Amino acid sequence: MARWGKFITFEGIDGSGKSTLAGGIYRRLLESLPKERIILTHEPGGTPFANSLRETLSKNVDREPMAELFTLLASRYDHTKRLIIPALQNGKVVLCDRYSDSTFAYQVFGKGLEYHTVARLNKIATLGIKPKLTLLIDIPVEIALDRLAEKGKLDHYESLDVHFFERVRYGYLALAKRAKRRIKVLDGTQSKEKILDEAWGYVFEVVFPQGSV
Ligand SMILES: Nc1ncnc2c1ncn2[C@@H]1O[C@H](COP(=O)(O)OP(=O)(O)OP(=O)(O)O)[C@@H](O)[C@H]1O
Ligand SMILES: [Mg+2]
Repeated sequence: MARWGKFITFEGIDGSGKSTLAGGIYRRLLESLPKERIILTHEPGGTPFANSLRETLSKNVDREPMAELFTLLASRYDHTKRLIIPALQNGKVVLCDRYSDSTFAYQVFGKGLEYHTVARLNKIATLGIKPKLTLLIDIPVEIALDRLAEKGKLDHYESLDVHFFERVRYGYLALAKRAKRRIKVLDGTQSKEKILDEAWGYVFEVVFPQGSV
């Protein structure tokens, strides 16, 4: 059986540049690895069922935070069990745009759910797996929201107020402080190229550890 693969996640508030960075890392990895060895996926979503839940979540419909949590975790369970774990079992590099840290930042710090409840349920939804590396893009809320406003229509999260995103931003930084080895904080106000170069250094260490090439 292949060695367990490398699970790398991308985190940050809406508009921080996660998808831009994940795409950049994917393209750099393609220079050294065959396409079949790299998976680029995102949450919520990543499987047909999880994608249908993503559509539901992005509708601008008011909801109970706990109902939202169950929907997110239903999406995570399907995605983890059907796509992420099989890929890791096959030794692949899995790049995931948002994962568990989003749930702690948004549902705990942003929406006020209790940390231990979310942690317990999330452990079930992830089947116990954890990212090897998490790239957290930190950026002032106004800059990120300006970028989104340029894109046009705002979804449920993006329509929430500035204070909500401030809580999420500082929630992310609190998580990073508690997991310094796993979560690397990148300054999202830098150019796309600069962020990609810095992130690539961390990815390289994880995907091609000393002596493996
Ligand atoms: N470092 C950067 N400097 C300036 N603009 C950037 C930078 N990174 C990304 N952008 C731009 O900001 C916008 C949002 O970026 P992106 O879609 O990657 O963010 P995201 O974190 O994935 O957002 P969402 O949470 O909404 O999916 C895009 O128009 C992108 O081109
Ligand atoms: Mg994105």
